[in-house]
Amino acid sequence: MNRTAFDPHDVRGDFPILSRRIHGTPLVYLDSAATSQKPKRVLDTLATFYETSNANVHRAIHHLGEEATAAYEGAREILCRFIGAGDPTCCIFVKNTTEGLNLVANSWGRSHLQPGDEIVLTEMEHHSNIVPWQLVAQERGAKIRYVPITSDGLLDMEAFAGLLTNRTRIVGVAHASNVLGTINPVAEIARIAHDAGAIVVADGAQSVPHMPVDVTTLDVDFMAFSSHKMCGPTGAGMLYGRKELLEEMPPFLGGGDMIERVSKEGTTFAKLPYKFEAGTPDIAEVVAMGAAAEYLSDLGLDVIHTYETELVDYALEQISTLEGVRIFGPREGRASLVSFSFEKIHPHDLSEFLNQDSIAVRAGHHCTHILHDVLGVPATTRASFAFYNTFEEIDLLVRSCRKAIDFFS
Ligand code: ALA
Repeated sequence: MNRTAFDPHDVRGDFPILSRRIHGTPLVYLDSAATSQKPKRVLDTLATFYETSNANVHRAIHHLGEEATAAYEGAREILCRFIGAGDPTCCIFVKNTTEGLNLVANSWGRSHLQPGDEIVLTEMEHHSNIVPWQLVAQERGAKIRYVPITSDGLLDMEAFAGLLTNRTRIVGVAHASNVLGTINPVAEIARIAHDAGAIVVADGAQSVPHMPVDVTTLDVDFMAFSSHKMCGPTGAGMLYGRKELLEEMPPFLGGGDMIERVSKEGTTFAKLPYKFEAGTPDIAEVVAMGAAAEYLSDLGLDVIHTYETELVDYALEQISTLEGVRIFGPREGRASLVSFSFEKIHPHDLSEFLNQDSIAVRAGHHCTHILHDVLGVPATTRASFAFYNTFEEIDLLVRSCRKAIDFFS
């Protein structure tokens, strides 16, 4: 195989945690879809903010307050460019992808859905793009339909088109599946949904950290993603929304910073994006999320995507040599993770076995009960990769799986 020139060893030194040894064995971290590791640049940004510029934002007329506000708003501009949003006021800081999706369901959903309206989701959605819709559908009397998946783990696009009716208001779709690795054709889905008069809410949690994502080209109405999966700290995330929708949406959370004027009679709200950012935000985390986006941009999202595609292709090839393995998801065009199972080994046992060799993977339903019901398995083992992973680590994973197969047979 002709491999790209990218060498993960050039960046591994940026991640202090990757030099850890656990029980004397070097850590093999294959759980980046759950949360990525953080480079020193991000960790330093976090510490430096607290050491030199810590103050609340948008409030104080003193030097630190101005520095903190400039850093916070600077991060918004960095992230706006990072996802091709065009207008920073359409980029709302939230806690994580889940909060971003809940914001859309509670604000747009509750103010627009009428009894009998329909929401179309896919069978591969994470619970964060299902449960908020179930809650609002129940309250508003709306129905939810699910786009089925094919045996290859792709969305059945014919079935999708057939599910849209003149009552469809919302289409919710994961850009990349956190279990199947499928990269869904979001631009095509948006075109079809818009023709039917529906808005599109994309979950970018597993795509934004791993490939170039441009919300303008994808033409989505909303996209949410998390800092902690893109080498940034936990506690920060972003919701991109189309301006004309955000302008007319009611606030999600009420409190300080999101108001224009409060009187006994009622409240008028601040302009975008502040209408949706009630209370003191996760300032340092947001600033460090900006540093994470810059770190990834300096490496190049196209370079990251090319390298991770090679990694996942190699992982698929090697894991498929294991006796009795079932691999889930498409063989090509996928995000950098592989979920698999063995009939005779429970994923939790396998994950515990791999842990003995200092290999970190995730086992379970990965917050996708509906998908696991469709796949007919209660749980899977998932190895997920980032650009700091190496081909040798995949060899170690496969070697350890082979030992597990011998042990449990
Ligand atoms: N949503 C994250 C995952 O898929 C936590 O592991």
